[in-house]
Parts: sequence; structure tokens; C-alpha cells
Amino acid sequence: MTSIGIIGAGNIGSQVARAAARAGFDVVVSNSQGPATLAGLVADLGPRGQAGTVDDAAAADVVVVAVPLGSFADVPVEPLAGKIVIVTSNYNPGRDGHVATLDDGTGTVAGRLQAHLPASRVVKAFSHLSAADLTKDGSPAGTPDRRALAVAGDDAEAKKFVTDLYDRAGFDTVDIGGLADSWKIGMGQPAFVTRQNAEQLRENVARARR
Ligand SMILES: NC(=O)c1ccc[n+]([C@@H]2O[C@H](COP(=O)([O-])OP(=O)(O)OC[C@H]3O[C@@H](n4cnc5c(N)ncnc54)[C@H](OP(=O)(O)O)[C@@H]3O)[C@@H](O)[C@H]2O)c1
Repeated sequence: MTSIGIIGAGNIGSQVARAAARAGFDVVVSNSQGPATLAGLVADLGPRGQAGTVDDAAAADVVVVAVPLGSFADVPVEPLAGKIVIVTSNYNPGRDGHVATLDDGTGTVAGRLQAHLPASRVVKAFSHLSAADLTKDGSPAGTPDRRALAVAGDDAEAKKFVTDLYDRAGFDTVDIGGLADSWKIGMGQPAFVTRQNAEQLRENVARARR
């Protein structure tokens, strides 16, 4: 069974962990304060969940990076080489401070993580919904008006992995392009946080403006 490591088990990381454990994956959650602080979440995850160090999470088959972008420098590089790395992070200057290449639109948050992890297969996902919705707004495939979530990345296998995980969590997938397109679902864009089905999400992504 594929294992999923979560680096950053806060609002969204803990929810991706819950969705992954429910989907049948073995999950290792981690944060900056250490595994002892994650006992409550681990209890919630059930038998498939455990807490570990960041290095323990980085040793999983697939790794989710759900830390603020200011903490990207702390994400281990070598253990993630060759792996699918799902990044949930957004740019929020109020929390993250100003970053010139994000302000002027020449860079993306996911691109920054890819630059830090040059040998990893970074894919942006789980980034444009409110964390709580992940475990309450899913529905079976084929449900009319099923909620959709976006994926952006340059690696086809990584996108396929996310598509499968979204489906198991109860969401359709809209592929919005490469990492360079990932700004289209960022904070302040029409597709950010709002509930949308696949058709509405495609329309909102088409209306994105830098
Ligand atoms: N909140 C949402 O609904 C939501 C939804 C989608 C995407 N996002 C994006 O996802 C990112 C995380 O958001 P969040 O709301 O989940 O933040 P959060 O609740 O503050 O959680 C951040 C997590 O990252 C951990 N962390 C921070 N620095 C670390 C480091 N150097 N090493 C290891 N772990 C570290 C924190 O651990 P400690 O607590 O131990 O410090 C915490 O577990 C943001 O970029 C946000 O924009 C958020």
C-alpha cells in the first residue's frame, strides 16, 4: 500500500491526512513541534495514521507539503527526490510577507517549491478550498453538481495520483495545466475557495487574471 507523508499537519494538512486515511492509505503526519503534539489527530486517523518527525513523513512514498511558503526551505530535499510531492500552499502576503516574484507574477508558489526540490515531481492540489470542506463536501462519482478541485503540474503521473485521491475523497478533478498555470487558483482568483462543479471551475479558471 502506498504511504503518504504529511509535512505540516495544520488546517489543510490534517484534512488531507484524514481524506487519505479514509481512502485507505497509510499516513504519517508531522509538524514543527514534534509527534507528541499530534496525538489527537492520530487518534482521529485510526489504524492507518501515525505521527512522526518531518524526516519520517519525508520517507513516505508520496509527500504532501502543507506548510506556509516561508517554511519551504525546511522541507528535506534528498528524501523527496523522484517522489510525487503535493503542495497545498498559497501566497498570502498578510501572513507570508511580500515576495517580489509572486507580487509581479513572474513566479508561482508551487514553482518555488519545485525549485527547492529539483528532483521531485511537484504538483499543486488541495489548495483552493477551505480545509473543513474536504471531509464534508465530497460525494460519489457521478453525483450531479459534484464539487470539483483543480490540479496543476508538469508530471502526468503526479496528476493521475491526485485525480485518484480527489475521486476517493469525493471530488471531480479539473486539470488546469502546468505548475506555471497554478496561480490561476490562487488567493483572490475567481476559483479560490468557492464551491464549484467541474464546468464552473473551468469557467472560473478561464476568468483568472494576474
Ligand atoms: N487553511 C486552509 O483552509 C487552507 C486550504 C488550502 C490551502 N491552504 C494553504 O496551505 C498552507 C498551510 O495552511 P494551514 O492553514 O494548514 O496552516 P497552519 O494551520 O498554520 O498549519 C501549518 C502547518 O505547518 C507546520 N509547519 C510550519 N513550519 C514548519 C516547518 N518548518 N517544519 C515542519 N512543519 C512546519 C505547522 O507546524 P506547527 O504547528 O508545529 O508549527 C503546522 O502543522 C498555506 O500556504 C495555506 O495558504 C490552507
